[in-house]
Amino acid sequence: MMFVFKAAVVGAGVMGGEIAQVIAAADIPVILKDVDRRFVDTGLEKAREVTSNQAAKLVEKGKLTQEQSDAQVQRILSNITGATEYDGFGDVDFVIEAVPEKIEIKHEVFADLDAVTPGHAILASNTSGLSITEIADATQRPDNVVGFHFFWPASFMRLIEVIEGDETSPETTQAASTFAQQIKKLPIRAAECPGFVVNRILISTASEIWRYQDETGVPVQEIDDFIREQAQMAMGPFRVADMSGLDTVVKVARDMRDAYGDRFYVHRGMEERLERGELGAKSGKGFYEH
Ligand SMILES: NC(=O)c1ccc[n+]([C@@H]2O[C@H](COP(=O)([O-])OP(=O)(O)OC[C@H]3O[C@@H](n4cnc5c(N)ncnc54)[C@H](O)[C@@H]3O)[C@@H](O)[C@H]2O)c1
Repeated sequence: MMFVFKAAVVGAGVMGGEIAQVIAAADIPVILKDVDRRFVDTGLEKAREVTSNQAAKLVEKGKLTQEQSDAQVQRILSNITGATEYDGFGDVDFVIEAVPEKIEIKHEVFADLDAVTPGHAILASNTSGLSITEIADATQRPDNVVGFHFFWPASFMRLIEVIEGDETSPETTQAASTFAQQIKKLPIRAAECPGFVVNRILISTASEIWRYQDETGVPVQEIDDFIREQAQMAMGPFRVADMSGLDTVVKVARDMRDAYGDRFYVHRGMEERLERGELGAKSGKGFYEH
């Protein structure tokens, strides 16, 4: 049974910063790497914000004193090291890739990781729906490559889909599930198909909402409010898309339509915003101002 003593996260965007936070909160040292110091700092800031908010809630509930809470924040954040190169990857046990949802970028990163990490290290991808088998092609260790799919916001959502590629070994799948539990998440096994389980269902539902909005022109805010009320959800689907990043959502939706045909739909208003460079929260504007 493999125990993870040190981990790394590659890509410090919408997902990466919070994934590193989750690992650090389980008292496991983690490197957070991106290509530019600016992106690393944004990821570290996200981790700080989540950690502080969680600690503040514990103080509110009377479970920690302010002093204990400050110490907890400091301890958790000291587990995260930012990096723009692969320094420190020589002794990692588990890496989670969270770079943009494009197979060329995934291939580049997995080839790098294959070269810089020890042979036993598990290389996991947070892809929303790309083929794990295809991602693993870029490495000499496809048996150690696995899908490890978090949901936004990663610090809060408990589920992780663990996806086996054609060559993933049973030991790797087992180690990934164990690691998910080590970081206090709930692993579920998902088959390797576009969208796996959760996005296949979520994007299918979203498709109908998007189709309806495009066809009727009903304001997105009205739909968000309605669904929030009716389904008792924290956010409506258009705000969730803004928070997730419209570039990522459109890419995932297009992949689903390409794989399964017309029963999946890509929202035209979302594609138009993307063309104007409006990516949602990460660019400051999407369906909403941020
Ligand atoms: N956004 C979501 O809601 C969500 C949810 C689950 C899974 N995912 C998946 O997670 C992955 C990342 O998504 P995201 O929303 O965090 O994307 P993002 O665009 O917010 O962040 C990606 C980061 O990767 C960095 N990057 C690019 N090339 C790199 C390289 N070679 N080395 C290191 N860093 C590099 C970018 O600079 C950027 O900061 C995608 O595969 C996406 O499908 C996203």
